[in-house]
Amino acid sequence: MKVYIETYGCQMNVGDSEVILSILKKNGFTLTTNMDDADLILANTCSIRDNAEQRIWGRVEQFNLVKRRKKDAKVGIVGCMAERLKDELLASGKVDIVCGPDAYRRLPELVGNVGSSEPTIDVQLSRTETYDDIVPERLDSKGVSAFISIMRGCNNVCSYCIVPYTRGVERSREPQSIIDEALDLAGRGYKEITLLGQNVNSYNWNNGELTFPMLMEKVATAVPGVRIRFSTSNPHDLSDDLLHVIAKYPNVCKHIHLPVQSGSNAMLEKMRRKYTREWYLERVAKIREIIPGCGLSTDVIAGFCGETLEDHLQTVSLMDEVGFDSAFMFQYSERPGTLAARKYADDVPNEEKTRRLNEIIEHQVHSSAQRYGAQYGRKLEVLIEGKSKRSDADLCGRASNNMMCVFPDLQPGVDRTGKYATVQVVGSTSATLLCEEIQK
Ligand code: 5AD
Ligand code: SF4
Repeated sequence: MKVYIETYGCQMNVGDSEVILSILKKNGFTLTTNMDDADLILANTCSIRDNAEQRIWGRVEQFNLVKRRKKDAKVGIVGCMAERLKDELLASGKVDIVCGPDAYRRLPELVGNVGSSEPTIDVQLSRTETYDDIVPERLDSKGVSAFISIMRGCNNVCSYCIVPYTRGVERSREPQSIIDEALDLAGRGYKEITLLGQNVNSYNWNNGELTFPMLMEKVATAVPGVRIRFSTSNPHDLSDDLLHVIAKYPNVCKHIHLPVQSGSNAMLEKMRRKYTREWYLERVAKIREIIPGCGLSTDVIAGFCGETLEDHLQTVSLMDEVGFDSAFMFQYSERPGTLAARKYADDVPNEEKTRRLNEIIEHQVHSSAQRYGAQYGRKLEVLIEGKSKRSDADLCGRASNNMMCVFPDLQPGVDRTGKYATVQVVGSTSATLLCEEIQK
């Protein structure tokens, strides 16, 4: 049996697809990258915004075209949208299998049940499942960067967010299994590991026996030759302890993704983010004090329930004040069942949401250009990811601060993917540093 997997949404989902592939391989499946060839077509889905779900419904139509040609091909929807829409997906008649984020161990069984009277749906959430004994089958064919999921679920109740409903309660993964996975990756030549969780700073093993800063320290020392990144932190839980660990270890990358969501205290309160604008700015100041030169990126939502023009301008001014290197920026999309959907009217007109989003994007482009421009002349260590997208004569890779660097390939014909290069910044755009390699 051949399986084809498409992955949508966040890095957690990429990690989950690797777990799914591992489970399926143990049960006789092989991976195919050709949908027409597959016996099982899976989409690992995202529910974060309505447009993410609409895209998947479109893909389901495409998958069914394959089924028309190949009668015994099966279509499965797994992940967050499977959890949220459950029966609706099966009722559409276009989906054979529905499997939620905590039920992947049962996926082979569910596939086997298609055509019988046995169930082909499992969306049971778990309080304990972390898949810690499953060695993920890596999907990144370059063998340079890998994800390690250190926790699952989320106990925050941000009022706009569907994640607690689709991924259940927070659980931390047993630490030794995380270290073992890191050692295994290092042994196989991986050069960069990203520790993943919805809110990594609330990682907590055995009632405080091991916290996230302690785990980070253990991973950093276990694999000193490997770069460590992490995602995502809630500003409320970002501790000085973690900042000191990031500063201390050269292999821990100097970059923090710190979603702010809004610059207005009224909105932050309605969003239930548990911090204020002032708290956020203090955390940023602390990051810059403890980790000079640290890269900083964020997420922002435009047009949340009841957002006034004044609230919006507070977001714009916060972004100007901080000067993020980059940002993911979204229009608010109401998710059924969330606290915001139950309690507040989604009352900012769509055109106004778009206008505000565009204004936010404009300011961010300006900030990015400034932040990237300020790197001029700096020497950076880049982990080579491969040829640049624009030109075969250039290589690309990220600096520790997460900025993308592009530089002429001085050894064409030699594959330097996964190797380090020392470069000097000679120019920039708003998303790339133009560099020259310094030959040692
Ligand atoms: N509408 C728009 N954006 C959202 N996000 C989460 N929920 C929503 C929503 N309902 C954004 C947040 C989060 C990122 C992953 O997606 O900014 O940090
Ligand atoms: Fe999408 Fe959130 Fe689920 Fe990730 S956890 S796939 S972002 S809904």
